[in-house]
Amino acid sequence: MTVIVPEPVLQVNNNPNSETVYEEQHDLNLDGGFIVPDSNAFGHSFRDYEKESKRKAVVEEFYRNNHINQTYEFAKKKKEEYGKLQKAKMSIWECCELLNEFVDESDPDLDEPQIEHLLQTAEAIRRDYPDQDWLHLTALIHDLGKVMLHPSFGEEPQWCVVGDTFPLGCAFNESIVHHQYFKENPDSQNPNFSTKLGIYSENCGLANVTMSWGHDEYMYLVAKGNNTTLPPAALFVIRFHSFYAMHRSGAYSCLMNDEDKEMLKWLHVFNKYDLYSKSKVRVNQEEVKPYYLSLIKKYFPAELRW
Ligand SMILES: [Fe+2]
Ligand SMILES: [Fe+2]
Repeated sequence: MTVIVPEPVLQVNNNPNSETVYEEQHDLNLDGGFIVPDSNAFGHSFRDYEKESKRKAVVEEFYRNNHINQTYEFAKKKKEEYGKLQKAKMSIWECCELLNEFVDESDPDLDEPQIEHLLQTAEAIRRDYPDQDWLHLTALIHDLGKVMLHPSFGEEPQWCVVGDTFPLGCAFNESIVHHQYFKENPDSQNPNFSTKLGIYSENCGLANVTMSWGHDEYMYLVAKGNNTTLPPAALFVIRFHSFYAMHRSGAYSCLMNDEDKEMLKWLHVFNKYDLYSKSKVRVNQEEVKPYYLSLIKKYFPAELRW
């Protein structure tokens, strides 16, 4: 689909004291020298779902479909289907190139090829955390699950691939963006799913929670199923980076265990770059490619099952 986009306004803000869109509420040093720009590629604040723009209607319609159709049963089925890893065989880099054909409808900040976003995120983290090579690679691959949009993967609709994710089988927390549309989700009528814990027990661990289906969980399954040697924190970041209600709003902490809380620190680091690198800072792909190919070789087999 074509999205009409106003001319991008680049406003890189060099003043570290000026206001950022979100207040970070944890003690880890997130900045690492990274300069947070004031605006996204459209000249608006990041993740501003209310800002009047042509993009807004597209994003809202996306979330309406997402919230109505993401049920516990649906997510379970998708996980089973994609978990078989029988859709394709390709390398990580081939997948990056495949993704280049798409624009993410759910994202109010981004309107450029995905590979550009992946490399911007990875390069920004690399600059500030040079020793954490696993986090550079995590950034490069975190969105590769979006290949589900591709015709060769069944051409899934955007609402079951992208956008914020949330737990199923328990009440929908009010901090989830466009919460009002959950009224039409059949799970809202299921009494077993309508309490705070729902079908889960307190502090059961996020690994035991069925999340709404999307590219996070798929890429996690791909990484795990292909025996990656990336550390657990990398897998946590990949699996929950779209779970904004948890890592941004602090909701659903009753489902988290101590290990989740520990790894959440890395997700906070990562998310800052995932959001704010979506500005018009160009990366020279050919120049950085050898570095990322060496990381892929370190942590993954040459060919993966998808
Ligand atoms: Fe993502
Ligand atoms: Fe991303």
